[in-house]
Amino acid sequence: MPARRIEHDMVRGAPVQIQVDGERVDAFLGETVAAALLVAGRLTLRRTVRRQRPRGVFCGMGLCFDCAIVVDGQPNIRACVTPVRGDMRVETIQDRDDV
Ligand code: FES
Repeated sequence: MPARRIEHDMVRGAPVQIQVDGERVDAFLGETVAAALLVAGRLTLRRTVRRQRPRGVFCGMGLCFDCAIVVDGQPNIRACVTPVRGDMRVETIQDRDDV
């Protein structure tokens, strides 16, 4: 089951769209990239280099790096502590060995 946003008593930022692996994903200013990706049903954000095991949001507070993604060409950005921007290009790391 995909994650859902809290609907009651929430003040959200403006709606925006980010580009994730070439697809548009709805998000709101003020939320993290991880939150937008979880709501979009994207649970695997990278794979381990050697065994290609899936990794995603684990600690949710910037400590484990399991949520590392590429943002605007810059690798190893932690999705759980990175706020959404409207013009953001995100790549999940599926089979790269250079990051
Ligand atoms: S989920 Fe652990 S650093 Fe993002």
